[in-house]
Formats: sequence, structure tokens, C-alpha cells
Amino acid sequence: MKLRKIAAFAALALAASAASAQTIKIGFITSYSGLNGNLGPYMERAVRLYIKEHQKDLPPGVKIELITRDDTGPNPDKAKQLAQELIVREHVNLLAGVIFTPNALAIAPLASEAKVPFVIMNAGTSVITTKSPYVARTSFTLWQSSYPLGEWAAKKFKTAYSLVSDFGPGWDSEEAFAKGFEAGGGKLLGKVRVPLQNPDWAAYMQRVKDAKPDALMVFVPAGKTATAVMKNFSDLGLNKAGIKLIGPGDITTDEELPNMGDVALGVLTVHHYSAAATRPANKAFVAAWKKEYGQNETPNFLSVGSWDGTAMIFEAIKEQKGKLDPDKTMEIFKHWKSANSPRGPISIDPETRDIVQDEYLREVRKVNGHLANVELETIAKAVKDPWKAMQKK
Ligand code: PHB
Repeated sequence: MKLRKIAAFAALALAASAASAQTIKIGFITSYSGLNGNLGPYMERAVRLYIKEHQKDLPPGVKIELITRDDTGPNPDKAKQLAQELIVREHVNLLAGVIFTPNALAIAPLASEAKVPFVIMNAGTSVITTKSPYVARTSFTLWQSSYPLGEWAAKKFKTAYSLVSDFGPGWDSEEAFAKGFEAGGGKLLGKVRVPLQNPDWAAYMQRVKDAKPDALMVFVPAGKTATAVMKNFSDLGLNKAGIKLIGPGDITTDEELPNMGDVALGVLTVHHYSAAATRPANKAFVAAWKKEYGQNETPNFLSVGSWDGTAMIFEAIKEQKGKLDPDKTMEIFKHWKSANSPRGPISIDPETRDIVQDEYLREVRKVNGHLANVELETIAKAVKDPWKAMQKK
């Protein structure tokens, strides 16, 4: 369908939704199959749990309908098609979700065209929010974690190597780490980009091992890919060769730690969220999660991005008394903040519609017999996306 037609349909949809009762429709696109397709439910469960706990806070008579769709992994054509259908056929008031950057980039122009606010709850490449004024992000950018990681690493290691998945967030993580590390006086011995799907891990790890860096910085998408990195790092003997594995928190994503096993012990990462964080808001979040989904279940950073994104949507619904205007909704998003996110204090930067948050240095340790991302210190406070800050200069 042509984009112009979408706008026309969306106008019709708006008229239709004004007439019908106060049901807010959220078109929720994430990955339930394909690469790291196990991650989708970590997002959906967070949204559903938030709705369940907070439905009572909505204006009387207002209900939320969550319409879920599977984009099948990093698959921009599929994501675009799903967003079109959600806008045109389902008349959604909002779009939300999305793990993968290429999918978010494919959806952003539709959000503009149809004036449907799009809440990004994971995809982390910096540039995404610049692609549409109807995008707001409650997750993170790779620059937010990888730049402070680089600055910190320069104080600990003389040399480093970087290995990233060859797509948007990987390029960002690589550049951000290099900028931070080199500004601090560190020397990068090499950078390598590996295919997003099924890379020949052994060959790449061997290349790194031969270069003998003090540290290897890795970004790969969270999920099974992170576990593959961990296993290959150990199988190829990089830890025994004295190379320290570091990265943004994607590589020690909470839900995969049990699958990684003890090879993950001692891995140092920088990230905005750990399920093991002891702040009261996180303890309450994790307890609610376990009560709802089972004692062995744990939320992860995709869950917290989705939880907070839903909280932000609730704010827009409450402030507009259940009738959403897209431009007012975006204004509310731009000024949204929460002192009480499971990850600590957060806000949306009104200039960029990107999240502002603290970044923590963490180490994988055993806590009560289970591997956990133990937060050691807050290494950067109220971090705005560093890439956007640099663009301005
Ligand atoms: C992304 O595609 O933006 C992405 C995917 C997985 C992550 C982080 C970022 O862990």
C-alpha cells in the first residue's frame, strides 16, 4: 500500500475511534521467532504486567487493547508490513515494542505519515529517534553504555580489541567504545564486525586471541547470540590467555546467565539495568514478575524498557482523560519522567525524545548460588545519548 493512502486511512481510523468507546489500541510489534525470538515475551510480559497492576489508575471506562505481532527477528520488510496493517486495519492509537534497529527504522516513517506515536521499547541505535518526531524511546542507546565503558576501560587496560555484530547497534557500540577508550589514552589493537546471523565464531575469536589485547569489548544482540559469544570466548581459550571480556550489558543479559554458566563469571559490563539490582523499585518489580510468571522467571533489560514505556503511555492516557491526540501525546512523552523505575531515575530528553538514565558498572558474580549482574557502582549519572550530544557540537 502507498504511504499516502495510509494517511487517508489513518484519518478515517481517527474518526472511527472517536466515535467508539474508550479503548486505547496499542499495536505491539516484537520478535517471537527468528533470531533471538525468545526475547519477545520478555517485552510483552512486562507490558501486560504493567497494565494488570495499573489498569485501576486509568480514567473510568478506559481500557487498553494490546494487539501483538511477530516481526520474526531482524526483518524490516515484515516489520513495515505489520505496522501498516496495525495502522490501517486495526486503527491503533499507538505503536510500541521492537527489538531490532532495522525494524524500528522501517516503521518510523509510517509513524510520521499516519501520526501514530511509536514507543520504542528496545531498539538502541542512536539515529532512530531522529527519523520521526512521533518516536520516543524508553530503552537505551548503545552509546549510553559503550562510551562510559570505553572511558572506564582506559583506566584499567592498556590495549583492547572490539568485536561487534555488523548492524546499527554494533556500529554504534564500536564507535562509542573507541571514542571513550582512546580519549582515555587506551590503544585499540583492532576492530572486527561479524555477521548478525551465524558467524564463524571460532575464526573471529582466534583473530582476537592472536592480537593479544588486554580486553575484548563485544556487542552482540542479547539472547542466544550472547550465550554463543560467551561459550566461544571460553572454548577458544581467550580467558586462559588473560584477555578480559567486557561490553555493554547485552552480552550478559540476565535471562541467559543460567545458560552461559560459570564461563560468564567475572565478565564486566556497563548497562542501565540488572535484575539483581537491590534498589526497592527493582525488588518490587522482580517480585511481581516472579509472582505472575513463576519463581524461576526473571525480567531483563528488554522487560524494563517495556515496563517503563507502558508507564509513559499510561501517563499520556491519564493526562488526556482517555482520548489520545497524537501531538499532545508526544508532548506528554517529551516531559515524562519517573523517579521510581526499576533501573533508577529516568526521564525523556524533550529535545531528542530519547531516555536519560544512569549507567552502572556490573560484574557477573554468584549470588545465593545463581549468576547475577551485580552492580558495583554508578559510573555515569543522568546520561543523555552521547552521540546526539556530539552531533550538536
Ligand atoms: C537493536 O537492534 O537495536 C538491538 C538488538 C539487541 C540488543 C540491543 C540492540 O541487545
